[in-house]
Amino acid sequence: MSTNTELLTQLWSSLPVPAVLLDAEERIADMNPAAEGFMNNSAKWLVGQPIWDRLAVDAPIEESLARAREHGTPLFVNDVDVGTGNRPPLVCNLQLAPVQNYPGWFIMLISPRELAGRMTQSHSVKSAAKSAIGMAEMLAHEIKNPLAGITGAAQLLSMNLTKDDLELTDLIVAETRRIVKLLEQVEQFGNLSAPERKPVNLHDVLDRARRSTQLGAGAHMKFIEDYDPSLPLAYGDPDQLLQVVLNLLKNAAEAADPKEGGTIRLHTFFEHSFRMRRPDGSTQKLPLQIEVIDDGPGLPEDIKGDVFDPFVSGRENGTGLGLALVSKIISDHDGWISVESVPGRTVFRISLPRAPREIEENR
Ligand SMILES: Nc1ncnc2c1ncn2[C@@H]1O[C@H](COP(=O)(O)OP(=O)(O)OP(=O)(O)O)[C@@H](O)[C@H]1O
Ligand SMILES: [Mg+2]
Repeated sequence: MSTNTELLTQLWSSLPVPAVLLDAEERIADMNPAAEGFMNNSAKWLVGQPIWDRLAVDAPIEESLARAREHGTPLFVNDVDVGTGNRPPLVCNLQLAPVQNYPGWFIMLISPRELAGRMTQSHSVKSAAKSAIGMAEMLAHEIKNPLAGITGAAQLLSMNLTKDDLELTDLIVAETRRIVKLLEQVEQFGNLSAPERKPVNLHDVLDRARRSTQLGAGAHMKFIEDYDPSLPLAYGDPDQLLQVVLNLLKNAAEAADPKEGGTIRLHTFFEHSFRMRRPDGSTQKLPLQIEVIDDGPGLPEDIKGDVFDPFVSGRENGTGLGLALVSKIISDHDGWISVESVPGRTVFRISLPRAPREIEENR
């Protein structure tokens, strides 16, 4: 063994980050001791096995990997749950780089994000959000009754008032209405039940959402329908999916300039290979794609990474519950939602499973 190869072997074993070498068929060609530790198994046993049978990544990365392979480019996937089957998944960053002179081969570095500290922190943030919602729901319920009293009293008062004073009671009534609306939104979040799923034509859902938005929040917007007419039926709860699209359209309309308006493109298409791998290792095909694309200013930089979290809002009167609700509904549908945003182009993409064939046929 030349010194050079020996040094390389040493480097490989000393690397404190789990590293896995993947062949062109995505089988494990080699792994370093850190990776053996991470996967809790020995290289002897794992080499030759398909990597995705051994590592459950909770993100649809196969397609991006195929693209990276085709172009010989690296691939970075941040903040994904990575499980190995025998312990709870860890939040990791994955870095995949093509290996020079070995077409199709990749080296993958798995970096758990500051292990323990980070994990418990993100966990506590999640449960904090949960209890915040629970608390808000309770408050919403409690506040609505006295509010009804206040509105009623203001209306009674207004009967004997001069015009100037009337303005004040009107203000009380209008503002209480606004609070009630906000509270109803909080309650809606808490009341969300499990979806009642059946085969759904997504274009019907999109049409209903578009028409209703055009009558209200989106009257100043132009809509472009870019549908794949052969899109199969999805498997979902039509009312909940309508709520999802309504929220996305409302956000896009609110982000646009109130005078100039803007354009919203509704794009549907079929992507056969899109699938999501669950932490338990099973996969879910999500071939139906909906994109809601607007040409507004884009997500505010400071909240870009958190828009799906509850109570994160970039608008003065926003509750920040719209996208949290969207994300909850989509995840209850075993679907996937992502967003890409730069000024002038914001794309919310929803990926959903199609209706099982036997159900479709029995209709
Ligand atoms: N299409 C978009 N373009 C620009 N910013 C957006 C877009 N969609 C969402 N956002 C930003 O994300 C934030 C969070 O959206 P979300 O729907 O969760 O809450 P909200 O709209 O503020 O309040 P609510 O929906 O409860 O009225 C918004 O406040 C806005 O800043
Ligand atoms: Mg919203």
